[in-house]
Amino acid sequence: MAAHTPEQTTAGTHAKKRRCAEAALRYIDPGSVLGVGTGSTVGYFIAALAARPGLIRAAVSSSTATTALLRSAGIDVFDLNDVGTVHLYIDGADQATRARHLIKGGGGALTREKIVAAAAERFVCIIDDGKLVDTLGSFPLPLEVIPMARTLVTRALAARGGRAEWRRDFLTDNGNQIIDVQGLPLADPPALERELDTLTGVVTVGLFALRPADVLLVGTATGVETI
Ligand code: A5P
Repeated sequence: MAAHTPEQTTAGTHAKKRRCAEAALRYIDPGSVLGVGTGSTVGYFIAALAARPGLIRAAVSSSTATTALLRSAGIDVFDLNDVGTVHLYIDGADQATRARHLIKGGGGALTREKIVAAAAERFVCIIDDGKLVDTLGSFPLPLEVIPMARTLVTRALAARGGRAEWRRDFLTDNGNQIIDVQGLPLADPPALERELDTLTGVVTVGLFALRPADVLLVGTATGVETI
């Protein structure tokens, strides 16, 4: 099933995504093992990597889709367990604030993305300027849940004011389900992430606030803003 996407992607948005993706190349330590996220912006980043053969030694991937793209670009993919700490992680997001708090998981890859981000010394997030917001939340917050706990988690979210919608006919790379939640209080993203992390049956919350991005590269109509 198609991923949950925030908007119809226009030609202008594609150009912004390509711009921030290409700007991320300068953060790479040549010869290193790089963590690579998931999504269309990352697709532009992998295309940029493919045009620079030998720039990285190998990659750690955040999804089966990214693994396929990396391999077709001639880039080796290592298991995170064989690598340990990753010097740098590059990934997109669905929404971001200037505090570098993120909502991720529109493509359903949030769990592996959070794992690679946690293993990374530095996380550079690449977005187009349409995703930069003052307060997170207009994009529904994805939660990966153990399938048998879906309605249990949905009730726990409702008790907190959240309206959860099951992403039907979609399974994550880990065999779990996704629910997309609106209406939760997002004024303090780290606090909400901490609270939702405690719900039994939740595998991963698509808030990246306790471990935010270290750098946000925002593609605009004329260039790239670094936050
Ligand atoms: C994947 O699960 C997401 O976290 C993506 O990083 C996010 O949806 C960004 O996707 P696009 O680059 O396709 O907008």
